[in-house]
Amino acid sequence: MRSILLALLAMTTLAACGDKAEVTPPAQQVSAPKPVTYDAAPVADPGKRKYVAVCQGCHGDTGGGQGAFPKLAGKPAAELTAKLNDYRAGKVVGTQSSTMMPFAKALTDTEIASISAYLASL
Ligand code: HEC
Repeated sequence: MRSILLALLAMTTLAACGDKAEVTPPAQQVSAPKPVTYDAAPVADPGKRKYVAVCQGCHGDTGGGQGAFPKLAGKPAAELTAKLNDYRAGKVVGTQSSTMMPFAKALTDTEIASISAYLASL
């Protein structure tokens, strides 16, 4: 009984070895690894990144404005920069300026420039 089992084992092992030499691996194993893709590509524009992170909750996801929050998209960059500088300096621009001031105060000159350029491009 034992020798039969050993013989069977030897045969299947040999058969398996023989098979292996002839079998070609499935296509996906030989093809080069696919590049990693993301659902949403990382945002390269720093102005857009900052806008999306801080401003879009009020001004809308494409700067279109909503309710009491003014539209920003497509306004000249110089005008947006001037207003942001005013808010940052604590100047009253409109009736809701106190809502806007803390967000402008948290911005650097570079951020104001990049956000203004991004919004002007929309
Ligand atoms: C909590 C809501 C809120 C957030 C967040 C916010 N804003 Fe505002 N924003 C306002 C309100 C309200 C006004 C109108 C203020 C006024 O009456 O002077 C305004 C006005 C502005 C204006 C002037 C628009 C115009 O033509 O008069 C600009 C420019 C602006 N926001 C840019 C930004 C940017 C850039 C950010 C992000 C860094 C931002 N806002 C974040 C509420 C918000």
